[in-house]
Amino acid sequence: MGAYDEDALFDLLAIDEVDRADCSRLLRRADDAEQVALAVAALRRSFGSFNQIPVDEPTQEPLVWLKAFFTLTPRVVAWSRRHDIPERVIRDTLADVGRHLAISRRVTGEFGLQTWRWLTYHFTVRIFALGRLQFALERASDEIVVDGVLAAGDWVLAVHIPESGPLLPALVDESLVAAKKFFAEHFPQHPVSVVTCDSWILDPFLLDRLSPDSNVGSFVRRFTPIDHSSDGHTDALYFVFRTRDLTRLDELPRNTSLQRAVLERLELGETWQVAWGYLTL
Ligand SMILES: CC(C)(COP(=O)(O)OP(=O)(O)OC[C@H]1O[C@@H](n2cnc3c(N)ncnc32)[C@H](O)[C@@H]1OP(=O)(O)O)[C@@H](O)C(=O)NCCC(=O)NCCS
Repeated sequence: MGAYDEDALFDLLAIDEVDRADCSRLLRRADDAEQVALAVAALRRSFGSFNQIPVDEPTQEPLVWLKAFFTLTPRVVAWSRRHDIPERVIRDTLADVGRHLAISRRVTGEFGLQTWRWLTYHFTVRIFALGRLQFALERASDEIVVDGVLAAGDWVLAVHIPESGPLLPALVDESLVAAKKFFAEHFPQHPVSVVTCDSWILDPFLLDRLSPDSNVGSFVRRFTPIDHSSDGHTDALYFVFRTRDLTRLDELPRNTSLQRAVLERLELGETWQVAWGYLTL
């Protein structure tokens, strides 16, 4: 944990009270040292490469990864400060740890980190929370080339939406403005002018079923479709209902247009597509 005592570490990672005792116990475990060291080494190899060096997965054990994240927190903070990243951005970015522990607890009823793979972004310093949205700096793959806009290998910002309240258009505007300034200021060696989004929410099936003035609809309409998509399998189900269990469709609530749309498509026997789109900053 280096420079942090437990409380300071848990505060920084925005870990809920209910998860803290389990986190403390995890820190005291001794029998996982070898596995944790392998996970830390995998993160360190990719660290600062903006995923040019993908993260190896020497283990699939979520709590080994969580402990590796604890171990690397001082390094993430030190690196961020060296890059003059504002404290607020460091904190907002790292707060995803607590958020995802809370999501895991909500889904399973227990302490855990189902989404540990997602958090490898944060602990290789390739993602930054800027207001309502998160942006990962990465190179465009050759699957999402757009003539005159996006060439394979260009630096782009992949946008992500954390579960942190309504996606108000004004907040999205603010985040996009902040991203343009932030990346030009902190990473001028990787110039970016395009934001990409790859998500089931860009599947055209959804837009037709949302009210035109919904926040999600307004977000989706900002993006120009890229002619590339892949099967999303249970993504939509997971993000709306936090389950991937396709045998439970009958029991799931249908109170909102989003819930109804997700279930309608699955009940038609269709597969939600992870569709791509882009916008220019
Ligand atoms: C994306 C998100 C922020 C949108 O929330 P929002 O701004 O409140 O959404 P909108 O106001 O546009 O809602 C449109 C409709 O969807 C419903 N809705 C939005 N999010 C919902 C959710 N998580 N579960 C169920 N229904 C939801 C709204 O109630 C509304 O229904 P209505 O038309 O019947 O009134 C929210 O769904 C969320 O936090 N999701 C989890 C994170 C996520 O999905 N990220 C993207 C992953 S790729």
